[in-house]
Amino acid sequence: MITTGFDHDITAGSLHALMEHVRGLRGIDFTVYKPGTIRRRLQLRLAATGMPDYASYHKYLIENPGEMDALIDSLTIKVSYFFRNPFVFEALHEFVLPEIMDAFKDDTLRIWCAGCATGEEPYSLAILLKEFIKKEAISPKVFIIGTDIDRQALKDAEKALYSADSLSEVKKGCLDRHFTFKDGLYRLDEEIRSMVTFAYHDVTDLSPPREGIFSDYHLIFCRNVLIYFEQDTCKKVLNSLSGFILQSGCLALGEAEAMPPELMNDFEEALRKTKLFRRVK
Ligand SMILES: C[S@@+](CC[C@H](N)C(=O)[O-])C[C@H]1O[C@@H](n2cnc3c(N)ncnc32)[C@H](O)[C@@H]1O
Repeated sequence: MITTGFDHDITAGSLHALMEHVRGLRGIDFTVYKPGTIRRRLQLRLAATGMPDYASYHKYLIENPGEMDALIDSLTIKVSYFFRNPFVFEALHEFVLPEIMDAFKDDTLRIWCAGCATGEEPYSLAILLKEFIKKEAISPKVFIIGTDIDRQALKDAEKALYSADSLSEVKKGCLDRHFTFKDGLYRLDEEIRSMVTFAYHDVTDLSPPREGIFSDYHLIFCRNVLIYFEQDTCKKVLNSLSGFILQSGCLALGEAEAMPPELMNDFEEALRKTKLFRRVK
């Protein structure tokens, strides 16, 4: 477990006791998240349940076990959409994938999306790969795993039903090829859905997902997850993720996330401004 200064940052033990209760029941340690974010998100649950303070809410949580899912839902921010930061996907298609395919010809291409929310990111990668493979007329084996700590998000990811809001960056031709519109929602076709495995996994465990079998990946996406962690946790998670990337493989971070300078000895920017980092040693 990672320890942080969260404990020292609170005026009373009630918030800490509440977080310990969540950790005991669900194994998620929210004390490694930025305390300000946690407090703001908790406030929403206090307001929704009519509880005046953390201690009362803690009692409410014990008496109403069903509230736990609502709390976790509130503490985890799951905004995502297909082809988020399209430039990153273009860079992958034009530069990164050809290099990786060339370097690892006979290998199964292994991609891990850590903090995948409701599936938009791993499915975008699956679509990208499907189209790349078709264009290049190649037939590599591909394994894509999407992981998250929000079980409801993972269930929704498996359903693969999306509103138009999630699809604003999807080009018309791509939408027509891979989605079916019904009752106001877009359903991703089975061919793409079947390319992605979803599993529960906490990146702060500093281990690869068991369901992935592998511990060495060609591509790891961990975008817009670390921004919610305290700096020390960010570094530990990045250090661990970088250890699961093969040489010449890439790590993708979110637009507002940075690689710690000490890790840049092992990585180089694959392309400027993409937050795609290639492992060089
Ligand atoms: C803002 S979303 C990012 C989704 C996607 N990566 C993207 O950039 O569009 C952050 C996701 O990280 C997940 N998350 C938060 N803490 C996590 C942890 N410790 N381990 C794995 N996933 C986590 C949240 O549940 C949420 O689904």
